[in-house]
Amino acid sequence: MNGLRKGSLVTVGTGIQLINHITHEAVQSIRNAQKVVHVVNDYPTQRYIQSLNPDTESLNHLYGPGKPRSETYRQMVDVIMGHVRSGLNVCAVFYGHPGVFVNPSHAAIEMARNEGYEARMLPGISAEDCLFADLGLDPGSNGCQSFEATDFLVHHGGFDPTCSLILWQVGIIGVGDYIADGRPSGHIGILVEVLREHYGSDHEVVVYEASPFPYPIAGPMVQRTTVGRLSEATMTTMTTLYVPPLATKADRDMLGRLGLGAPQRS
Ligand SMILES: C[S@@+](CC[C@H](N)C(=O)[O-])C[C@H]1O[C@@H](n2cnc3c(N)ncnc32)[C@H](O)[C@@H]1O
Repeated sequence: MNGLRKGSLVTVGTGIQLINHITHEAVQSIRNAQKVVHVVNDYPTQRYIQSLNPDTESLNHLYGPGKPRSETYRQMVDVIMGHVRSGLNVCAVFYGHPGVFVNPSHAAIEMARNEGYEARMLPGISAEDCLFADLGLDPGSNGCQSFEATDFLVHHGGFDPTCSLILWQVGIIGVGDYIADGRPSGHIGILVEVLREHYGSDHEVVVYEASPFPYPIAGPMVQRTTVGRLSEATMTTMTTLYVPPLATKADRDMLGRLGLGAPQRS
């Protein structure tokens, strides 16, 4: 007896691309669970999860038009914890990485641990991982800042435009409830205003969607445009925005102190 209560939780991700991105350890966790709950919105992945473990329950019905997402997330945690408290080994499956912009995954793990259950998260492939691959971006080159777009506007005016900038949920700025039809919010103009102050209108930006399909003919959606024309781009609830960095100068004093002769870039 290890002192933990009967029942456990593991959260896993399916990655972005149908079936291709799921890890072996995520597959094993789904297979071994006594109860699987999932929040994945495409039918083939739902079927795949069910083929791994028939005791599977979708939580997608907890979303509703006009319903605050925060309420939906609380209800998801309630369902997950209900199964854990009943003594089952539960696997909760989310798309992408289960810990990247997934509130109920973190909240359920924290609650389970606080109540004395074993709980852990397995890593998965996130939209940002796909962006690095599809756009050829190495976050080590200039540093990389990643924000939820609404949060960026509300809290992070002091960001560094000489680092790469990635903005998540850019298609639903200022929207706290669920949007079923993928209709983008009308607040993109406010983001354009803020970006223009830092980068100017002509600075390139990339409107990005990783492809969920494992076929070469169905590649990612990559719209290259400028800050000034960003409002004209097509965006959905799945859109992520990449803003390349402004040029930066090396700190010569620091180079000297570190004993480095010339600017180092990987
Ligand atoms: C609630 S977050 C979920 C992220 C997910 N857990 C992950 O690991 O990528 C939803 C946001 O992820 C990003 N996203 C999801 N799917 C995407 C895709 N196929 N391509 C680009 N970004 C995507 C978008 O910024 C979207 O608004």
